[in-house]
Amino acid sequence: MSTDGVDKGRRRVLTALTTVVGGVGTAYVLAPFVLSMTPSARAQAAGAPVEADISKLEPGQQITYEWRGKPVWIVRRTEQNLKDLPTLNEQLLDPNSELTSQQPAYAQNPTRSIKPEVLVLVGICTHLGCSPTYRPEIAPSDLGPDWKGGFFCPCHGSRFDLAGRVYSGVPAPKNLEVPDYKFLSDTRILIGVGQDAQGAA
Ligand code: FES
Repeated sequence: MSTDGVDKGRRRVLTALTTVVGGVGTAYVLAPFVLSMTPSARAQAAGAPVEADISKLEPGQQITYEWRGKPVWIVRRTEQNLKDLPTLNEQLLDPNSELTSQQPAYAQNPTRSIKPEVLVLVGICTHLGCSPTYRPEIAPSDLGPDWKGGFFCPCHGSRFDLAGRVYSGVPAPKNLEVPDYKFLSDTRILIGVGQDAQGAA
């Protein structure tokens, strides 16, 4: 019936809008959110450090915190993830993290992290600012047989490995940023303060 057609048409439009907000809009929807925050939450959005609890984070899982109005991802990598990282180097634009703006000095290492199993990244694509999607699966059909897990940006197809290193030949020109952070304990991380600032963690 024709109403069916109308409903389907509406659904398509709604789906399209949702997709755009989920991709391009992600970096920009935070402003109204900031207005509704408590004073301490506003201070955090303005730049105060944010404490993250990773006690329940299992290998292979990701959690997201907000810091300075940006998503910060924490991923607990598996042993296999760590073994796979060096095998990808030839496919990457900056495998050794030589661009120093993209990570603190203490994360300029093969895992781009303080502890090998715990990855901390700013979840904003270095192309035009969308938020990539965590794709930990091995060889999913849409990403191909060589995919060993990583982050995929739906806006223009940039790919990053599980250290946030960008693949060659995609629009994004740099590795994802590693923010300053330090471990307060085995299960608590402070995002926004580097271990350099107060001595080695
Ligand atoms: S914004 Fe991520 S690929 Fe363009």
